[in-house]
Amino acid sequence: MKTFSATQLATLAEQFSAPLWVYDAAMIRARIAQLKQFDVIRYAQKANSNTHILRLMREQGVMVDAVSLGEIARARQAGYDLSSAEPSEVVFTADVLDRATLEQVVAERIVVNAGSIDMLRQLGALSPGHRVWLRINPGFGHGHSHKTNTGGENSKHGIWHADLPAALEVIAATGLKLVGIHMHIGSGVDYGHLQQVCGAMVELVGSLGQDIEAISAGGGLSIPYRDGDGRIDTAHYFQLWDAARKQVEQLLGHAVRLEIEPGRFLVAEAGALIAEVRAVKDMGSRHFVLVDAGFNDLMRPSLYGSYHEISVLERNGTEKSGAVPTVVAGPLCESGDVFTQQEGGVVESRLLPQAEVGDWLVFHDAGAYGATMSSNYNSRPLLPEVLLDAAGPRLIRRRQTMAELLALEAV
Ligand code: LLP
Repeated sequence: MKTFSATQLATLAEQFSAPLWVYDAAMIRARIAQLKQFDVIRYAQKANSNTHILRLMREQGVMVDAVSLGEIARARQAGYDLSSAEPSEVVFTADVLDRATLEQVVAERIVVNAGSIDMLRQLGALSPGHRVWLRINPGFGHGHSHKTNTGGENSKHGIWHADLPAALEVIAATGLKLVGIHMHIGSGVDYGHLQQVCGAMVELVGSLGQDIEAISAGGGLSIPYRDGDGRIDTAHYFQLWDAARKQVEQLLGHAVRLEIEPGRFLVAEAGALIAEVRAVKDMGSRHFVLVDAGFNDLMRPSLYGSYHEISVLERNGTEKSGAVPTVVAGPLCESGDVFTQQEGGVVESRLLPQAEVGDWLVFHDAGAYGATMSSNYNSRPLLPEVLLDAAGPRLIRRRQTMAELLALEAV
């Protein structure tokens, strides 16, 4: 989806010096509003964890999920209370607790969503009374790629559904406090599977034999990356989960909080990556356009064969039209540094306007799992991020410097 106008993009590219990430605050607020029926929207910040984005989330009443000490630090920096009463503002979700993280979640009383029984044992031994969720792997999963399917026996995630009684035993034996049941079966999930997930949740709660106060629908809501991809009907999504919640309430005899944990849905469409065309060359049957951002910046095409809509702008912001079969690639020293490819690395040509050196190339729908998955590969500095809001554009992360790149090695 083209969230920004071509003129806006070209202006930002000049003003903040592309390559850079740009995000639209109004779009993020609009997506939050679509999920307001859920009692708690718990943002999976791995999608985009810039502290300014987290602050925006917090201002909108959105709570947060953290998966590492770094994400906990970001939540704190954005003003979240790490040890608030239920519903807890922050939940730490993982399948393992490394020693440093264990120490910190205990010290700060951070609620833990446990994806393994060992986590429960380790936490229970140190912190009786600690609040926990159980992340259950229901035995099936779905995702836009096999790499984003987080259920079933080929996924490392969650406590296996048949092990629920064993998990409850550890909770009882160590005196942990069970808050709720959580399920996240993958990223990029559609309706067909949703009914199945809701059914599994009701069945699990039915077999618990003990009380809980909340259930979590996890994340996974997809967005239309390609023209013609369906757009999720969030009202229907809520209805399905609300029906499951009502069944759970009947089983337990009291009101139950319904949480949802989206990442991509809230931020993907709000973001774009702007790069500059730096070389154009024909090789055999292929026409290559090379830009100054690579898979170290936007990794999704190389990792999953993900599709991002691309537009070509003249420097003054005029959007070009045309249909030249084009391979779009980056500057890295790897043949896989190609933005137009299928899962498995098959290079594809895409019909794009004729791009020339100096044009802007815009990768749309890059607000989720874009900047957060960037690396310093080839010793390339991390790109700046700009947030566009009513008051205008604001730099929310500056470009990494060469000195910063080398700093850790000054030992
Ligand atoms: N909850 C849990 C426990 C998760 O592991 C995830 C994503 C989410 C929520 C949010 O999922 P979402 O609503 O964003 O689909 N890098 C991949 C996506 C990996 C998702 C990992 N976990 C991509 O670029 O598509």
